[in-house]
Amino acid sequence: MGIQIAPSILAADFANLERDILAVSDADWLHVDVMDGHFVPNLTLGLPVVERIAQVTRIPIDAHLMIDDPDRWAPRYVEAGAHSVTFHLEAAFAPIRLAREIRKMGARVGVAISPATPVEPLLEHLAEFDMVVVMTVEPGFGSQRLIEKTLPKIRTLRKAIRKAGGEIWVQADGGITADNIGEVVDMGADVLVAGSAVYGADNPGAEVGILRERAREGRRA
Ligand code: DX5
Ligand code: ZN
Repeated sequence: MGIQIAPSILAADFANLERDILAVSDADWLHVDVMDGHFVPNLTLGLPVVERIAQVTRIPIDAHLMIDDPDRWAPRYVEAGAHSVTFHLEAAFAPIRLAREIRKMGARVGVAISPATPVEPLLEHLAEFDMVVVMTVEPGFGSQRLIEKTLPKIRTLRKAIRKAGGEIWVQADGGITADNIGEVVDMGADVLVAGSAVYGADNPGAEVGILRERAREGRRA
């Protein structure tokens, strides 16, 4: 799979969401961080906002659920219009069952692991997921520095996916910038989330293109 850039609207202006979403219209995905104030110490948005976002944009929605009890709530985000729904391995009671349920509803399913969560337990279950999200920062906030020690997980994942075959994407989420995206791609990520790097730029739409170009350079390296 080619490189995909997913701007995170956590860094957008919540008072002008439609404007900021339209500003990144050539993005591959719109990364929507749902936080419940329990799984992470931050509260962002929920189902009603995701429903409205799905109505005002053609960019497919990549919902990242940093919430407790995703077993109950994740299917509702598919109904709300998310094309891909990622839940945290640390929060799910029955991750495989939940993954199968989300797929049966017609959406892509991702599973995310926080920095301190090892990737090894997932390696024998990769076929159950369309994407594995390696958190490259602690979940809960934008504008953090990428945690370098999370990168070997991406390489381990990429090797396992190559061995298992199949089209499973590896998403890196958190602290991605034009300066480090090449290294992250070189480790094996193919979906890159960027919040502050995009919305902190003078021209967010142009920044998406710059990130994509730097990522492709990383792949060629
Ligand atoms: C953090 C979120 C990330 C974050 C990325 O919990 O999952 O998606 O918004 O923002 P930056 O790119 O600013 O680290
Ligand atoms: Zn995220």
